[in-house]
Amino acid sequence: MRQMEKEIILNVLNLSKHYKYYKSIFDIKRDVIKAVDDITFGVFRNEIFAVVGETGCGKSTLAKLITGLISKTSGDIYYDGELLDYKDKKKNFRKKIQIVFQDPYSSLNPKKKIYKIISYPAVKNNIIKKKDRPDFAASLLKNVGLDEEILYGYPHELSGGQRQRVGIARSLSVGPELLILDEPVSALDMSISAQVLNLLMDLQAYDKMSYIFITHDLKIVRHIADRVCVMYGGKIMEISPSADFFKEPAHPYSTILYNSMLPYKFKKQLNFTDLNGKNTVPGLIGKEKGAEKGCAYFKKCYASKEICGKNEPPLKDVGNNRMASCFFPFTHQGL
Ligand SMILES: Nc1ncnc2c1ncn2[C@@H]1O[C@H](COP(=O)(O)OP(=O)(O)OP(=O)(O)O)[C@@H](O)[C@H]1O
Ligand SMILES: [Mg+2]
Repeated sequence: MRQMEKEIILNVLNLSKHYKYYKSIFDIKRDVIKAVDDITFGVFRNEIFAVVGETGCGKSTLAKLITGLISKTSGDIYYDGELLDYKDKKKNFRKKIQIVFQDPYSSLNPKKKIYKIISYPAVKNNIIKKKDRPDFAASLLKNVGLDEEILYGYPHELSGGQRQRVGIARSLSVGPELLILDEPVSALDMSISAQVLNLLMDLQAYDKMSYIFITHDLKIVRHIADRVCVMYGGKIMEISPSADFFKEPAHPYSTILYNSMLPYKFKKQLNFTDLNGKNTVPGLIGKEKGAEKGCAYFKKCYASKEICGKNEPPLKDVGNNRMASCFFPFTHQGL
């Protein structure tokens, strides 16, 4: 693991985002989608903190909560020891925290020229004047490995990889300390994805930024992350230093995820309910009152016992700077 300062830059405390909806117009009791449900974690300064988990587990919701794109249901977020509140103009959190989205096609305004797109956050945050936009954008383009000849072009003239570099340049324009990357390379071809990934790693090392790196791809995590946070059903299942995680995952769900990334010949034979699809929907949905009890992963878990369906395991220390929300961590029988 790279040397890191162990200073917490972002602290997320009991954060939840619940969406309420009626299944039908005759429904009296509303259902609740617990997109993010009571999660607590911290991110260190200069750390690459990877967030992984299957589709719908709440990764993007978490990213949007941290960047203020949606409002929380409950909980708190602290940035550098201060309550994160984007309305507080004095603190200017928008300058410090930026997001890069997955889809470089839809995240750039198609009607705007590249130099305007890139310099927009800097103008909005009074970092530069409007007249300085082309020069400013040109220097940012250089930083992300693009030629300044595209300054006056439009997004549709660029390839996917180039667009994502423009998206990265835009987020860098305000000199952020924390970058939230929501699947930044998943929409790109493999070779382009590797190039953009290398760029992101260079930028992180050079500017000493912290990254929250959201991805489906454990191979990327193994390559870049300092720590891994595994989510399932709006909950955190495990947070571990990456090196330890890839030696031995602590949570049974992490083990299943880990196994799914191994090449076929190395896969151990699994005969768990998980893979038989006994219950293939993550436990996100609960009633507004009297939500489901127990562990979110209980019904699919190969290691579950009676208690797991009754009580919810808290995220707790399982040794070696590792946390897992499981009553029976490191259970790998049959694996
Ligand atoms: N505006 C919304 N209204 C209702 N439900 C929502 C809303 N946004 C997200 N959800 C639900 O919250 C859950 C978490 O969604 P989210 O987009 O955070 O998942 P994700 O982990 O980013 O998935 P993916 O890997 O596919 O990007 C999903 O069940 C999703 O359907
Ligand atoms: Mg997502």
